[in-house]
Amino acid sequence: MDNIVIAIDGLSACGKSTLAKDLAKELNYIYIDSGAMYRAVTLFAIEQGISLEDLPQHLDKIHIHFEAKDNAQAVILNGKDVTLDIRSKEVNELVSPVAAISEVRSFLVAQQKAYGKQKAIVMDGRDIGTVVFPDAEMKFFISADTDVRTDRRTSELAEIGKTLSREEIQENLKTRDHIDSTRSDSPLKKAEDAVEIDNSQLSKQEQFALCLKYVESRRRKD
Ligand code: DC
Repeated sequence: MDNIVIAIDGLSACGKSTLAKDLAKELNYIYIDSGAMYRAVTLFAIEQGISLEDLPQHLDKIHIHFEAKDNAQAVILNGKDVTLDIRSKEVNELVSPVAAISEVRSFLVAQQKAYGKQKAIVMDGRDIGTVVFPDAEMKFFISADTDVRTDRRTSELAEIGKTLSREEIQENLKTRDHIDSTRSDSPLKKAEDAVEIDNSQLSKQEQFALCLKYVESRRRKD
């Protein structure tokens, strides 16, 4: 069976990264969380006190990579582990405007494309099937009800010790969905050849089993 590229796109907190991680583990593929890269750029701007307007001039000072750590993937920004810091409220609030800056997008898309050179990769985000890997052999577009997504994000944040109100979390999701879907540069949209899955009523295991079937049939075809 050939190695393929698997692109997973969808709204915030719809379970993309859980699916992507599980598929990568099953297939022994690399997993790249492209949202973490936008979050790391956002954290850099906050920590350095750089305005969004000036950020494009500072991109050459930003070095992001991923490292396997304690059975998970750590996000390293300029040599520092920022895995938890990139999930802060401040980053959540600023990341969509940062991701709407074209220079930021081309800076990160170039790195994301390079990760996919050897195939055998699962990447999740908003523009993976449309811009980063338009030729990906397998594309998924994941959606879920806003209430379901809010519940999932609330428990996800609680697990890492961040307790925010449900209302606050839902407001942030809605704002980000709006900015991510309406920005002029590579807005979130379903690639024509993506398989669309609404997982509101699916368990994690059901979604995984369903997607794995698609992946297996695609790998046999190529
Ligand atoms: O997946 P996430 O919630 O961690 O992503 C954080 C933000 O980054 C999201 O609001 C939109 C942006 N993003 C993007 O514009 N393109 C991607 N490929 C991934 C994320």
